[in-house]
Amino acid sequence: MKTPLLLINFKTYIEATGKKSIELAKIAEQVAREQGVNFAVAPQFSDLKPVSEAVDIPVFSQHIDPIRPGAYTGHVLAEAVRSAGAGGTLINHSERRIKISEIEETLEIARSAELATIVCANTSGVGAAVAALDPDMVAIEPPELIGSGVAVSKAQPELITRTVTRIRDVNKTVKILCGAGVSYADDVISALTLGTDGVLVASSVVKNKDPKKLLQEMAGAMLDHRGLRLSASASN
Ligand code: G3P
Repeated sequence: MKTPLLLINFKTYIEATGKKSIELAKIAEQVAREQGVNFAVAPQFSDLKPVSEAVDIPVFSQHIDPIRPGAYTGHVLAEAVRSAGAGGTLINHSERRIKISEIEETLEIARSAELATIVCANTSGVGAAVAALDPDMVAIEPPELIGSGVAVSKAQPELITRTVTRIRDVNKTVKILCGAGVSYADDVISALTLGTDGVLVASSVVKNKDPKKLLQEMAGAMLDHRGLRLSASASN
């Protein structure tokens, strides 16, 4: 999975359900292609197949269960989301939390199904704990800011820097994302400047009257950040 990454979590918002999930995913794909940035989308399970058939950007499942194929009525099987077109999965999102023992097992199952993994963490300590299990990415998301419109990267920058430091103590290579309240291009710049490899966004994009415009601005921020880094390294 390429970084910096911006993943749009569709959650169970009606604005991104059914046909609307395809429309939003297509907007994300168009902006990503036109501006040359890495976007991914996480629609609901029932929309994984139509979305992944409609777009050529990474599609994530919002969750999988720590189960193997068999008699588990109502559970979500890694192989099922994979065959529906998902290339990765969120694990342990604040709205779908599981135990640490289940996170470990889910990671093994996801790997064997060839799904990229983003494990969410509500605190820096949980971030370090799950980083030790070696997922592809860890996403720090303080629950109290989710859906608030107040960005974690602005309101709690010290949480991000502490999480990055604690994760690097146990895992030098895992990618680190942050999310919760990310609403503006500037929030994306702040997140990247604090040392993350990208952001998770939901309500600001999904519930926006003009999601394309906001995604263009956020993509612009990702490019500006890259430019700033290049000019800093050129002057060193
Ligand atoms: O997974 C991302 C999400 O929890 C953040 O939600 O609405 O604060 O962008 P939101």
